[in-house]
Amino acid sequence: MPSELDPSGSHAKSRKQLDRNKLSLGLFGANCSGGLAVTTVPERWEASWENNQKLARMADDAGLDFMLPLGRWKGYGGVTEHNASNFESLTWATGILASTSNIMAFGTVHVSVFNPVVAAKQMVTADHVGQGRFGLNIVCGWNFDEFDMLGVNLAQHDDRYDQGQEWIDVITRAWSCDEPFDYEGRFYQVRQTDINPKPYGHERPLIVCAGNSPRGREFAARNADMMFTNLRSELDEVPANTAALKKMAAGYHREIGVFSNVAVICRPTRKEAEEYFRYYAVENADHDAVENMIIGRGLKKPGVPEDVIQAARLRAAGGNGAMPIIGGPDEVVATMKRLSESGVTALAIGLTNYLEHFPYFRDEVLPRLVRQGLRAE
Ligand SMILES: Cc1cc2nc3c(=O)[nH]c(=O)nc-3n(C[C@H](O)[C@H](O)[C@H](O)COP(=O)(O)O)c2cc1C
Repeated sequence: MPSELDPSGSHAKSRKQLDRNKLSLGLFGANCSGGLAVTTVPERWEASWENNQKLARMADDAGLDFMLPLGRWKGYGGVTEHNASNFESLTWATGILASTSNIMAFGTVHVSVFNPVVAAKQMVTADHVGQGRFGLNIVCGWNFDEFDMLGVNLAQHDDRYDQGQEWIDVITRAWSCDEPFDYEGRFYQVRQTDINPKPYGHERPLIVCAGNSPRGREFAARNADMMFTNLRSELDEVPANTAALKKMAAGYHREIGVFSNVAVICRPTRKEAEEYFRYYAVENADHDAVENMIIGRGLKKPGVPEDVIQAARLRAAGGNGAMPIIGGPDEVVATMKRLSESGVTALAIGLTNYLEHFPYFRDEVLPRLVRQGLRAE
């Protein structure tokens, strides 16, 4: 059954920003201390506002498509207190949009934390500040300790998505209805709801839904312009994965893009890139924070083989679960090309220190992506 308010017809400006390039690129996680890399190295990311603003302007000038925040309220512990210093994502996005000209900024919004009508209004504010450059990344909930800290009950897994469906129905209706409306759901009941202004240009912001499970995929297929999902499988398996998701969306008469997270370690040679990865993600991983991350996500539990747990540890340390892309510029571009040919439409990138490492990526990788036809000039 299609969603009560089918949120198709996405935002002209944010959509155009992403559609400009065959492979959209953005930076992920700069709003949180440590960013994606769970490491103790001294150059690990300091998520000050000054650094975020400087980075967003640098990315904007370089023609990147988006800045995507993590949705975090609490750290993962460890000696670095990984992610413990974090900017709330909607207010962060509003500041980023006010500081930039063309790049999109997403809010990564926890369904159960925000009243949907308040969230709809907050997002409209961000969207007007950015003149249509705001995007919504919906996260239905993950780490119980965060929700305990907020005094919010995190529903059981599939119920989170049922709640998410009601949440998105209320939001899209609040964004689009010109008359006051009532909504009577299991999780939300609202009366005579009428918000103004509507999103910039009267078109709803782009919607991304993050998840991996079959229920998460079904939720994204039904509601999202793009699904944000981990590429846990081998590269060979990505085409089948993305094709299945696109088929699922077609079942709802919708099209869907595939958004994934990657940690990029690009150096002049493969050897240097591998050495840097080993240095920050193996020799200097923040082991306790890594352990807390994989336990919190249910990746370490009785019965899971040790080699699988070890692989999850490495992915966590390398980039919060992101697929690492390690190599010289040509190799990084070759992997990105392969992902694009496999149906991936956007990559959300983690860099150990965004400000230090982005210029090399900008100067060496971006022009090669243009030459490969993956990005516009
Ligand atoms: C690529 C990706 C990024 C995510 N980012 C966040 C995040 O920033 N904050 C958060 O609380 N959850 C995040 N999540 C968690 C999902 O929203 C979801 O709660 C989690 O994947 C469990 O749901 P699932 O079993 O359907 O996958 C992310 C998930 C994925 C796959």
